[in-house]
Amino acid sequence: MLSYQDNKTLTRTGAGTPMGEVLRRYWIPALMSEELPHPDCPQVRVKLLGEELIAFRDTSGRVGLVDEYCPHRRVSLFYGRNEECGIRCAYHGWKFDVDGKCVDLPSEPAESNFKSKIRIKSYPTEERGGVIWAYMGHPDLKPELPEQEWMMVADSQRYISKKIQECNYFQALEGGIDSSHVSILHSGSVANLGVSSKSNSTTLLAKDTAPRFEVMETEYGLLIGARRDADEDNYYWRITQFIMPWYTMIPPFGGAPRGGHAWVPMDDEHCWVWSWSWTPGRDLTKEEIDQMAAGAGIHAKVIPGTFRTVANLENDFLIDRDMQKRGESFAGIFGVGMEDHAVQVSAGSVADRSLERLGTSDTAIIKARRRLLDAVRVNEKGGAVPALDAESHRVRAASVLLPKGMPFHEGAKDALRLAEKDFEAV
Ligand code: FES
Ligand SMILES: [Fe+2]
Repeated sequence: MLSYQDNKTLTRTGAGTPMGEVLRRYWIPALMSEELPHPDCPQVRVKLLGEELIAFRDTSGRVGLVDEYCPHRRVSLFYGRNEECGIRCAYHGWKFDVDGKCVDLPSEPAESNFKSKIRIKSYPTEERGGVIWAYMGHPDLKPELPEQEWMMVADSQRYISKKIQECNYFQALEGGIDSSHVSILHSGSVANLGVSSKSNSTTLLAKDTAPRFEVMETEYGLLIGARRDADEDNYYWRITQFIMPWYTMIPPFGGAPRGGHAWVPMDDEHCWVWSWSWTPGRDLTKEEIDQMAAGAGIHAKVIPGTFRTVANLENDFLIDRDMQKRGESFAGIFGVGMEDHAVQVSAGSVADRSLERLGTSDTAIIKARRRLLDAVRVNEKGGAVPALDAESHRVRAASVLLPKGMPFHEGAKDALRLAEKDFEAV
């Protein structure tokens, strides 16, 4: 349970809100690079943390991220022209470069110096790992870009998707942290993750549906160990990270691609769900890519030209009661990611956490809330929030069998850290 005030603090992310200010300390995955495929391609709308923005790639390939609305008379730049190193408003032709500087103002006399006084709100961007990153915070506090494994592998080893989910970012993030639902909600569908027949993780997950949690606070966020009974001598540990402020890692299933998410506020009632799959030692196969593009596993099928999922709130996520009865999906919804999506959204656009009843399996969620609320206090005092450095992000989730009595973070130490040598190799 969470007080009304804490729930509000956690879930409001607009400019000037306490959490909004914390989230603006970090680089934000804003767009897929492929959304702006070439110089002077059509600009796109993107909403982040309640701010309506336009992204464009200029003639020299640089990416601009500016206010959607022209500072003259507030017309949307979506209808403007992306040409000759700037975006030009369709109404009176005011033109802005990627840094937000007004570079042409044809509606005013040539001798006027009005142009030099005009700027449009703009945010710095960087590109890495197939993603355009945005920084929306104070210019003097810009941190390092994260260095997560999926960002550093070759393009042929990575698949990325992005979708809109109809609920607050934190509700979705909680689902990514909560490892106990895997044995129930995903009991029928985990095979869709491409689990190899040699992997016994599905059997182990089904065998013990009430994992014991051990949660450690780390410099980047949380390290979460979920322990299940395996046999007389061993426990099966699924170990995952929550990296501030919105990343979660998924423990691997056999030789299947690794996976992770970012849960980024679009506004307070919608979030961007980023999903990445990658294979550290090899290229993804065509079959794997085709399956992901069809919405299997953690990815989702979207309506072409949009990031809205085909199965969505309005159509009850295409729930199939026969599939549910047959046990192919516990919720009767296709795809692991869409099972999560449906149940998370069903709690309302912003869940009322003052009404919930939390159990022992919710320990990690309780701690994640604390980390974010602590970050609000630290930020208000002008301190440094966690995981601003690239190095903090060099971690891996793991699934391992460990002898009973062995602390999970000791036993799985090598599997959890992306070693310098791995990092150079990727
Ligand atoms: S409204 Fe954009 S130039 Fe006038
Ligand atoms: Fe899930």
